[in-house]
Amino acid sequence: MIHPRPLLREPRNADRPYLAINMVATADGRAAVDGSAVGIGSPADKRLMRELRAEADVVLHGAATVRADPLSARVPPDLVPQRLAQGLSEQPLGAIVTRSGNLPAHHPYYESATVIYITSDKSVPVNEPTVEVCRVSSIEQAVRDLGRRGARRILCEGGPTLNSALFEARLIDEIYLTIAPKLVGGDDPLTIVKGPRFASTIPLELLSLVEKEGELFLHYLVKYPSMQG
Ligand SMILES: NC(=O)c1ccc[n+]([C@@H]2O[C@H](COP(=O)([O-])OP(=O)(O)OC[C@H]3O[C@@H](n4cnc5c(N)ncnc54)[C@H](OP(=O)(O)O)[C@@H]3O)[C@@H](O)[C@H]2O)c1
Repeated sequence: MIHPRPLLREPRNADRPYLAINMVATADGRAAVDGSAVGIGSPADKRLMRELRAEADVVLHGAATVRADPLSARVPPDLVPQRLAQGLSEQPLGAIVTRSGNLPAHHPYYESATVIYITSDKSVPVNEPTVEVCRVSSIEQAVRDLGRRGARRILCEGGPTLNSALFEARLIDEIYLTIAPKLVGGDDPLTIVKGPRFASTIPLELLSLVEKEGELFLHYLVKYPSMQG
């Protein structure tokens, strides 16, 4: 088993849900190869991703990741009984964040309940019975809205731009990071966080490290520096 269970924790603050990110990178730090993360991790990494989803009320994605990959927020049928036994819904709620509203009209993502959070007054060309469009002023408001809907544990699966905004807003509690034993090279600088340089470095505490067939599975606690002084 990779990492102790449960994988996702109870909220640290009463005012918002717990939020963890799950990302995979190559040994040279690349978060995408030819514009997609799909081929980076092993089957064990993909299984961990699904097991993390299985404990989450909500699986959150940035719009560019949804545009790039034919992904969904769902768990496979073998993980549904675990969810039901824990009092969770059959499938996690999917949540997508966008500013442009530029999302495909049809996508495998929309096969289960999804909220699209939009932070502008643009329109969203999605008209599916499973999809609700919710206008918010910021990513913080989106996370708090998920809390109001009853979400206790959110899993964010990136991408790097959304991660950066969530770190800036100090909304990420923990990080699951897989380092795949491979090099890509090239000059695509996409790493697991993409955005403005943080005002100060964010320290991490290593909670768990598991090696399996050369792949490293890390679990970190995020320790934001104090804002005083
Ligand atoms: N290695 C991994 O584990 C991993 C995981 C996920 C994705 N990826 C890869 O990462 C790439 C995509 O990443 P990315 O960084 O370009 O994009 P991203 O983070 O998936 O999405 C960025 C988009 O999300 C929306 N967004 C992000 N922050 C927002 C905020 N604070 N308020 C409102 N909207 C916000 C905006 O959508 P609009 O553009 O619609 O306004 C923004 O352009 C793909 O190649 C994907 O395969 C890798």
